[in-house]
Formats: sequence, C-alpha cells, structure tokens
Amino acid sequence: MKEKILEIKNLTTRFHMVDRDITAVDSLSFDLGSHEILAIIGESGSGKSVTNLSIMKLIDEPGEISAESRILFRDGDKYLDLNKLSEKEMERIRGDRISMIFQEPSASFNPLFRLGSQVGESLHLHGKRNKEEAYHEALKLLAQVHIPNFSLRAQDYPFQMSGGMLQRMMIAQALACHPDILIADEPTTALDVTTQAQILGLLKEKQKETGMSVIFITHDLALVEDFCDRILILYAGSLMEEGNARDVISNPMHPYTRDLLRSIPKPGMFKDKDKLFAIPGKVPDPGEKIEGCPYAKRCTGCTAECLAKKPDITEKDGRKVRCFHAYS
Ligand SMILES: Nc1ncnc2c1ncn2[C@@H]1O[C@H](COP(=O)(O)OP(=O)(O)OP(=O)(O)O)[C@@H](O)[C@H]1O
Ligand code: SF4
Ligand SMILES: [Mg+2]
Repeated sequence: MKEKILEIKNLTTRFHMVDRDITAVDSLSFDLGSHEILAIIGESGSGKSVTNLSIMKLIDEPGEISAESRILFRDGDKYLDLNKLSEKEMERIRGDRISMIFQEPSASFNPLFRLGSQVGESLHLHGKRNKEEAYHEALKLLAQVHIPNFSLRAQDYPFQMSGGMLQRMMIAQALACHPDILIADEPTTALDVTTQAQILGLLKEKQKETGMSVIFITHDLALVEDFCDRILILYAGSLMEEGNARDVISNPMHPYTRDLLRSIPKPGMFKDKDKLFAIPGKVPDPGEKIEGCPYAKRCTGCTAECLAKKPDITEKDGRKVRCFHAYS
C-alpha cells in the first residue's frame, strides 16, 4: 500500500442499552492509503456507518468508543490518535481535514438557509475565508461539481433541488476545505442508476484532482470494482475479508463475499429458471452473544469448528480473510 493516511487499530464501538450492550464494531483494524479509495461493504446493520462515525468521533451516548481503540490520522510527519483528542480539537479536524457526505442530504443541509451559503460555510467556520469570500468559493465549487446555472441555484433552498443535484451540493460542501479524507456513506443509494453513475464519476474525478483519500460505504458490491482500489467486507461489526478490489471480486476467499456476489442481479436472469440468489437468514442481532463465526448460521460450509470458535484473520499476499475454510 501507498503511504498511510489513516490507521485504525482495534476499533470497538458499543451502545449501552438499558437491557444489554450492542457491539456495533468489534476490534476492527484497517488502513487507508494516501490517494486511495477504500470501499467498506456489508449488509444493513453490519456496522459501516458506526465505523465511520467513530472515525469522526460522532458517537453520542449511549454509544462509546472503547479506550483501547486507536484512530491514527497522519498529520505531517506524525500521527494523531483521534480517539484521544478533545471535542474542541476534533472540531478543527471535522469538515476541514476529514469530511463526510451522508446518504440523506437532510443530514447535511439546514432546510431554512440558501444552499450557496451552506456549501461554503466550513471555509468560514474554519477561519479560512470571510463570509463573502466563502460564498464566492462556494460558487466555484458548485461549478466544479457541474451544477447548471450555479450562481442562480446557489440561491435555492434544499427543497428546491432534485436528489442528484443535492448530492452534488453535498459533495461540493464536503470538498470546500480540501480534506485529506472524504467519507462517503452510501452517497448514491437513494438515486436512480444514471444519476448514481454520474455521482460516482464526479467523486472519482474530484479524488484524482485533489489527491484526497476516500472511504466509500455501500452495500452494493456491483458498484465498486472499477471505482475503488481496495475493498473491506464487514459483517456483524467484524472484518471478514479485505484486499485489492479486482482480486476480491474476481476471486473472493470468504463465503460471505461469494454469497454477496451471487446476490447481484444480472440482466436476463429472470427469463430462465434462474432466480435471484438471496443469502438465507439474516444478520445476527447485534446484542446477541456469538461464540463461533458470526456468519455460521447462514454459511453452507459451516462445520463444528466454526460454531465453537470465532476464526482469526489470516493474511496472505496482501489479502486478509476471517474463515477456517477460506477459498484459495
Ligand atoms: N445510536 C444507536 N443506538 C443503538 N444502536 C445503534 C445506534 N446506531 C447504530 N446502532 C446499531 O449498530 C449496528 C450497526 O449499525 P450501522 O448504522 O453502523 O449499520 P450499517 O452497516 O451502516 O447499516 P445500513 O446499511 O442500514 O446503513 C446496528 O445493529 C444498529 O442497530
Ligand atoms: S468460518 Fe466457517 S461458518 Fe464462518 S464463513 Fe468460514 S466456513 Fe463459513
Ligand atoms: Mg449505514
């Protein structure tokens, strides 16, 4: 891997509920390289958003990031452990060095303010521009993300934009301070396929232009092969498989990755007797204590060993996999 911009070591995030503890992310370790696009993939509830909200230190009570978790962010020639920073120190990093775009634009925009002022706001908040300069920068950003009639649209309110346009606005807002890392949490899930392709193209274009690193969260493996450099597969808060995107897609080693790939609909598949494959069962209840492999109940290759003990991660040729019976 190229130089690392982020090293996550043993990230564990729990929610202390009245009747039980939920471990949403369980001792997760991974790195993000400079200028790299890393996809984090998993079904709903696998811990993708909590992982990234933990990186941003946006976990509120009853949630807690364990004290042992290390979130090492490269700052010049040293690493800062974000887990040890105060809220005030994190405020200087959020939106400036690390930004996030959300699946739901409503999480990013205030419905009561015009979009132009909101897109450039972080430049003003981080003391980089005064209000007027920030607005001018916002107009430039809107042009860069290909908003037609951008100076007029900057005066619109969020409700006046289509979903795809608002996603572009969110990307512009997230890029305003030239972040080192952009976290995109399912930014295209709510969009039609054409707009989805345009937004992915735009993200890739901006990543190439700025050299930033991107964490791209999705539940859709079909999207990532051409878009991402590496893939991390998450299940029940644990890393199941990680590797170069092409290798993981062309030669998945974990049964869960194989099942996810089998679940991707293909054109014409309903014409014959073929049916869309669906992984049987459902993701474990996050409060459930699991002794063995988290995927055991849904895995056709499950053995007695898998039920007795959680497999460790094994590493070979730049690939990581957590399975007693991984494919080679
Ligand atoms: N604030 C919270 N309080 C309690 N449990 C939470 C909270 N936020 C997340 N969780 C639990 O943590 C687990 C992981 O949630 P997370 O939002 O990270 O899933 P996800 O992989 O992003 O799913 P999706 O694809 O649906 O967005 C889930 O079981 C969820 O119910
Ligand atoms: S460890 Fe066993 S149950 Fe888990 S994924 Fe591998 S084969 Fe399946
Ligand atoms: Mg999520």
